[in-house]
Amino acid sequence: TKKQVPHDKSLDNTIDLLKEGYLFIRNRVDKYQSDIFETHLLGQKVICMTGEESAKIFYNPELFYRKDATPKRVQKTLFGVGAIQSMDGEAHIHRKNLFMSLMTPSYQNQLAKLMMDKLLDSIKVWENKEQIILFDEVNEILCRVVCQWAGVPLKESEVKERAEDFSLMVDSFGAVGPKHWKGRRARIRTEEWIKGIIEDVRSGNIKVEEDSALYAMTFYRDIDKNQLDSHMAGIELINVLRPVVAISTFIVFEALALHEYPQSKDKLLSGDKDKLKMFVQEVRRYYPFTPLLGARVKKDFIWNECEFKEGMLVLLDVYGINHDPRIWNNPDKFCPERFRERNDNLFDFIPQGGSNPAKGHRCPGEGITIEIMKASLDFLVNKIEYDVPNQNLSYSMAKIPTLPESKFIISNIRRKS
Ligand code: HEM
Repeated sequence: TKKQVPHDKSLDNTIDLLKEGYLFIRNRVDKYQSDIFETHLLGQKVICMTGEESAKIFYNPELFYRKDATPKRVQKTLFGVGAIQSMDGEAHIHRKNLFMSLMTPSYQNQLAKLMMDKLLDSIKVWENKEQIILFDEVNEILCRVVCQWAGVPLKESEVKERAEDFSLMVDSFGAVGPKHWKGRRARIRTEEWIKGIIEDVRSGNIKVEEDSALYAMTFYRDIDKNQLDSHMAGIELINVLRPVVAISTFIVFEALALHEYPQSKDKLLSGDKDKLKMFVQEVRRYYPFTPLLGARVKKDFIWNECEFKEGMLVLLDVYGINHDPRIWNNPDKFCPERFRERNDNLFDFIPQGGSNPAKGHRCPGEGITIEIMKASLDFLVNKIEYDVPNQNLSYSMAKIPTLPESKFIISNIRRKS
């Protein structure tokens, strides 16, 4: 007999998605004992799927496309309207090459070094404060780091507001109501700012190094050999700046992991690069950041007895795959050691998307993320000492994206001798 693909019964599950957040797909996969189920979200029929095999088909460009896969409200906060995330085919690959060219190991190291330098610089300020909120501080530092690296002029007096706008764009993308509008206004302000800078570079008012991200975006020619208009070039430059600032979320989760699992902290005292990397990988796997990804069906096909109809929205369970017991032993245990012997394939460890980043939509910024996280972890373990006062460190699995409530407060900060 033919297996029926489970249909989630409620008329529309949008509210449940908002209530269950990161666990929405996983909860139903457990309930129906099926990697794939159909439901209704935002007034449309949607297929949700989890597991490594699902990730493999999700990244097959013959079967799926990205245009119109992201709700407009997410484009108007997180991505920017009409940016790389919603492109397809050769035009996408062409633009993706530009992003890939800015994320080489040499750029990764430059960014990691800048990060460490600025973290070390801030010790003397922090030593004189009773306590700091780690998320806010790191957000501002990353904003300085990425603007300096990219060639974007940033006055010290504007750091706070610019950094806050970058994080508002990220924080608001899953929101409705006033919070959504806060995110939209943050994006409008940031797009205006960066568009002005692109125009200043084009008119020669700002001089910029040829190997910088600002130069690359300003003078990039698309597949039809045309320059992007200054607004679009700005949106794509923001697609480099904003996600670097967003690494602050992972850095807070690193600090939380050090606090929650002090025995794994001891292993990092030597500053050994491999151990730092294992810890970083486990933070990216274990803690919730990207919940799911969406794509639309390119042409009718049947897979796993489920009918995929042209144009249908399909959601891939990123958080669930990073906690899939078929891939990870004791997935809900924090254990950096699991990365010691591991050979990841392109579909079984996907905190920043799956498949080959040069050929599909996988994040081009994983190398940058890992190197900046390694530098920050080394800093937290080996360059300073601090106390973690009583505070609410819990993070909600319903809120997308989530963060410890207190944003991680540390006090009594000293330079480690
Ligand atoms: C795409 C996550 C950092 C630039 C993505 C995707 C995810 C992701 C899940 C989508 C994958 C897909 O659609 O298949 C993250 C997380 C980060 C991070 C959790 C940690 C903070 C970065 C950094 C950069 C970056 C540091 C750049 C310096 C991009 C770009 C895309 C992207 C440009 C669009 C790629 C495309 O559509 O082809 N990221 N990312 N990300 N990320 Fe990241």
